Amino acid sequence: MNQASPVVSEELSEAVTFGVEPYFSPAYAQAEGDRLWAKVWQHACRLEDIPGVGDFVTYDILDDSIIIVRTAPDKISAYHNVCMHRGRRLMEGCGRAAQFVCRFHGWRWGLDGENAHVTERPDWGDALTAERIRLRPVQVDTWGGFVWVNMDPDCAPLREYLEPAASLLDPFHFQNMRYRWRMWCHFDCNWKTALEAFIESYHVEGTHPQLMRYADFYTWSQTQGLHSVHGFAEREGRDVAEANTIVRPGKGQDVRRSTYELQKEVYETVNASTTETLVKASARLVDELAEDTPPGEVMSHFMESARRDDEARGVIWPTIDPEHYAKTGIDWHVFPNMSIQHGYSFALVYRVRPAPGADPNKCVFEASVIELFPEGQAPKTEWVHAEPSSEAWRSVLAQDFANMGMVQKGMKSRAFPGPLLNPKQERPVANFHRNLARFMGSGGPTPLAKS
Ligand code: FES
Ligand SMILES: [Fe+2]
Repeated sequence: MNQASPVVSEELSEAVTFGVEPYFSPAYAQAEGDRLWAKVWQHACRLEDIPGVGDFVTYDILDDSIIIVRTAPDKISAYHNVCMHRGRRLMEGCGRAAQFVCRFHGWRWGLDGENAHVTERPDWGDALTAERIRLRPVQVDTWGGFVWVNMDPDCAPLREYLEPAASLLDPFHFQNMRYRWRMWCHFDCNWKTALEAFIESYHVEGTHPQLMRYADFYTWSQTQGLHSVHGFAEREGRDVAEANTIVRPGKGQDVRRSTYELQKEVYETVNASTTETLVKASARLVDELAEDTPPGEVMSHFMESARRDDEARGVIWPTIDPEHYAKTGIDWHVFPNMSIQHGYSFALVYRVRPAPGADPNKCVFEASVIELFPEGQAPKTEWVHAEPSSEAWRSVLAQDFANMGMVQKGMKSRAFPGPLLNPKQERPVANFHRNLARFMGSGGPTPLAKS
């Protein structure tokens, strides 16, 4: 299943740089509200967050807040979270509601957004038309079990916005996965600084040097319209089986052992990017295969036995054509603020938002792992706050977190004109800023002057 041909992309292959204004200009951060966040599709929650009619979540982005509610077993609606009387924020957090009730003067709305009660309504005569007092709708749609909202009434459909990422990732059936864990924290950096630490793997050698013992982390990267993807690259002298998928052979003479060691390390130090089933199946390789089994055969055996193990407990992996899988790499940046690292039976999802108040030096970072579970056996989870220094975050993530404030601070140096992106491995960052500039109307990557 690892025998697919390598993926190449020459777009943005020229060395580029861009200015640092997007990271810490207060005016830029303020302008993002109108020019970016009010125009893009944003992952607001997952369908499993609102399983029953009346279940709602609120999603906050800068000064805007949106209520996402299940209005019927098969219908989700979204509204601006503001009382149309005198503008009180209507709902907080998440919960189940039969109606939305404003705590100020007691006006009420049905789940359909229509006003159901105005206290002392006759005082207005006939001035309060239904149109004037209904909740203001927000565009909402779903893909992959994720619920997305867009505040622009004239926006392109979600599917169109997500392409080609949606079609490439459809076979992974994220809608069948459920949370295994989810945590969040604040960082002292811009939301883009944080996100960009997770949309390339060029940093592995510098930030996570201990992982280099287990595998090579050289990557290709590719622009995909608004979005970007990167994956493990083949290099001369390496076995083709080392390419592409997030679950792969370890390096070293005895691939049976090194593959297990890689899985175990990732499971323990990331708590994502693999599963208990995969770790256990890799642990058996040493008993099930001869020492000189080639990496490709080790991987086929490993993946087939893990697939069978999961099947035996009612977890059915999707079947994905290897050529197709190869194109999906290991990790996607979904514009503007989401990253998805995917496998057959799991995904690691990051979402980063500016903190309330548009302080360009603060952001809200959220990480979740979704996984396939036997029917009805998904664990009950909720969003857990854990300080970046908390041991609740495993050591690999803690290593990433240690860069956040340091990058934000460092980029402010009068000696730093802008990032020098790796033209092969950091195209997702370049593409991010190219598309960001299109929304913001300024900035964006420019070729490095050849001298
Ligand atoms: S502000 Fe909501 S009822 Fe008055
Ligand atoms: Fe990292």
